[in-house]
Amino acid sequence: MSKTQNHQKVILVGDGAVGSSYAYAMALQGIGESFGIVDVVKERTEGDALDLIDATGFNQPKNIYAADYSDCADADLVVITAGAPQKPGETRLDLVNKNLRILSTIVKPVVDSGFDGIFLVAANPVDILTYATWKFSGFPKHKVIGSGPSLDTARLRVALADLTGIKDPKSMHAYILGEHGDSEFAAYSAATIGGRPFLAWAEEHGVTKEQLDKIEDDVRHKAYEIINRKGATFYGVAAALARISKAILRDENTVLPVSAYMEGQYGLNDIYIGTPGVVNGEGLKEIIEVPLNEEEQAKMTKSGETLKKVLNDGLK
Ligand code: 2OP
Repeated sequence: MSKTQNHQKVILVGDGAVGSSYAYAMALQGIGESFGIVDVVKERTEGDALDLIDATGFNQPKNIYAADYSDCADADLVVITAGAPQKPGETRLDLVNKNLRILSTIVKPVVDSGFDGIFLVAANPVDILTYATWKFSGFPKHKVIGSGPSLDTARLRVALADLTGIKDPKSMHAYILGEHGDSEFAAYSAATIGGRPFLAWAEEHGVTKEQLDKIEDDVRHKAYEIINRKGATFYGVAAALARISKAILRDENTVLPVSAYMEGQYGLNDIYIGTPGVVNGEGLKEIIEVPLNEEEQAKMTKSGETLKKVLNDGLK
């Protein structure tokens, strides 16, 4: 087993709205024993650490502190949220140049510290930035994971739980796949409820294709709806990051939707894209390739092509 069993050290890079919400989720859920925060605005990390420690007074003690890159040396997990967020009207892919520049200043000092844990990337466009983290770091692919469609899948499950009247989103075994962005899609043909194919259950209960298409579309546009109203999204992705972090730090071997490196799965190669996979203390143990129908496979292919084009233009 890896060192994660007794030594649960996390370094967060990027103390903006997403980063600090993630830190707060980790503090409230008691995940990890030691949590360092790195940001170009050092004073903010000091303030956040002081504030977050107060929150631990209501559950379990935890070491939360303003960190620098040297603290990554013996960390189990480095989580990257640093980057410019989407503004109203911008797509995630519009951020690529700005955020690749920022990322390139982060990965090197993390690796130079001697870090050999797991990278978890959340900054957008997350599939591209996860690929870039893998490239810049030289790490094995299983040790570099993106938050990918974890948030979109949660959005889908919440909406389906509401539509079906089976109120618990955890009973909706359904995934959003592909880019965390405009080309993502719901893999309804492979979804299940209590072991039954979701589409058969839906038909029996009078759920229409139009309703399901609308949910898929709403999920795809949810971030825009939030950004148009409050300027940014952060609580949802923070919860998704805390969930993935828990799976890593507690060596859960659990299946979660993440952004993973493709080597032939879904007919895709040499990109990071959203799929379920088994997450444990070593990172991504295995990709679970969802069986897709023809229409869904075409969407996955198109999503992969979208990401490949951005990589070819921006990185290679
Ligand atoms: C989200 O989906 C903007 O990627 C962020 O909420």
